Amino acid sequence: MIKVGVIGCGVIAPTHIEGYRRLPGVEVVHLSDLKPERMAEKGDKYGIGKRSQDYRELLADPEVQLVSVCTDHASHARIAVEALDAGKHVVCEKSLGRVQEDLDVMTAAAAKHPELVASGIFQHRFEPHNIRMKKLISDGAFGRILMVDLNFRCLRTNDYYLKDEWRGTQSGEGGGILINQAIHHLDQLRFLFGDVTAVSARTANMTHQGVIEVEDTAVFILEFERGFCGTVCATNSSAESWRSSLLFDGELAALDYVNESCEKVSAREPERAEMIRTALAGDRENSSVAGKSYYGSGHAAQLADVVEAIREKRAPGVTFADAANSSSLVMAVYESARNGGARTPVKIYR
Ligand SMILES: NC(=O)c1ccc[n+]([C@@H]2O[C@H](COP(=O)([O-])OP(=O)(O)OC[C@H]3O[C@@H](n4cnc5c(N)ncnc54)[C@H](O)[C@@H]3O)[C@@H](O)[C@H]2O)c1
Repeated sequence: MIKVGVIGCGVIAPTHIEGYRRLPGVEVVHLSDLKPERMAEKGDKYGIGKRSQDYRELLADPEVQLVSVCTDHASHARIAVEALDAGKHVVCEKSLGRVQEDLDVMTAAAAKHPELVASGIFQHRFEPHNIRMKKLISDGAFGRILMVDLNFRCLRTNDYYLKDEWRGTQSGEGGGILINQAIHHLDQLRFLFGDVTAVSARTANMTHQGVIEVEDTAVFILEFERGFCGTVCATNSSAESWRSSLLFDGELAALDYVNESCEKVSAREPERAEMIRTALAGDRENSSVAGKSYYGSGHAAQLADVVEAIREKRAPGVTFADAANSSSLVMAVYESARNGGARTPVKIYR
């Protein structure tokens, strides 16, 4: 039996708790939250008896082998490093860290404890449609990739930001749309097309003046390690509640992938277009655990991967270094924007 502690009992916690409950031989036994009422609500709902306001008591619990870190961005590094030093396997929600130094200490702690599994959540990588797309690209179905274009719109109102004290602040969240919502799409770009080595960016607060300290809109150029470039436009001030559009061109075929569904395939040979269409057929899978629909179906699969990695004594599908690289891309965008759009290298963790 693998016994789990969940630190942070807010919005995302039920997605973790329900994900673990689906796995045979796994039990959530201990919860922690600074707010006792949140801990009580989740504890009562899921029948989890041990509850500690101080997460260090959970880390001192010898029964707990694996810890899910579901707190605000600013506390991830401290809690995850202390958990690894306490001999616990760790799963940490995105963004792995709030600032670059967080990523440095978290990846160093994971490297110091090769006997422990340390995984950063990027659940969309575990969704079948993304796995199918990655395979098509790496099998050469599109040919040599020429360019990539990501457009992501959503709406986060002032009320959303005022709901919790950490949201929209530099000290708690570390950024706005990029570090919170669009980070999933940036991770998808890295998953599909490989690492990004440099960026040139502009960011702005277009509609949340006086409410948030961070960006609600960002536009930037990406330089991929594999030699092609891409662009990103992202805003959470849109009249549209949620829309992602990933367009890319390879020498042999081009794809319009909208809201995680194949909208249009163009290819010089009709058979190739048909092959890609067939391979990507089917809508985005629905989630069977708690959470908003755009959280997707991947949490349960990623938690299953972590548990399997512990049992098989292997690295998880998304290591701390890998998850850190998506946060590091966000940090580089912020640095570039602070420097008037200067071309800025992305620090890569190996
Ligand atoms: N993967 C996804 O799709 C997804 C979706 C939503 C949120 N998230 C991530 O999950 C994390 C939490 O987000 P949320 O929306 O659940 O936030 P939230 O504010 O609803 O919940 C965070 C909880 O952590 C608690 N907390 C903070 N510091 C603590 C500490 N030191 N000890 C114990 N408890 C502490 C807070 O009291 C709060 O209840 C963030 O990193 C967020 O980006 C991921």
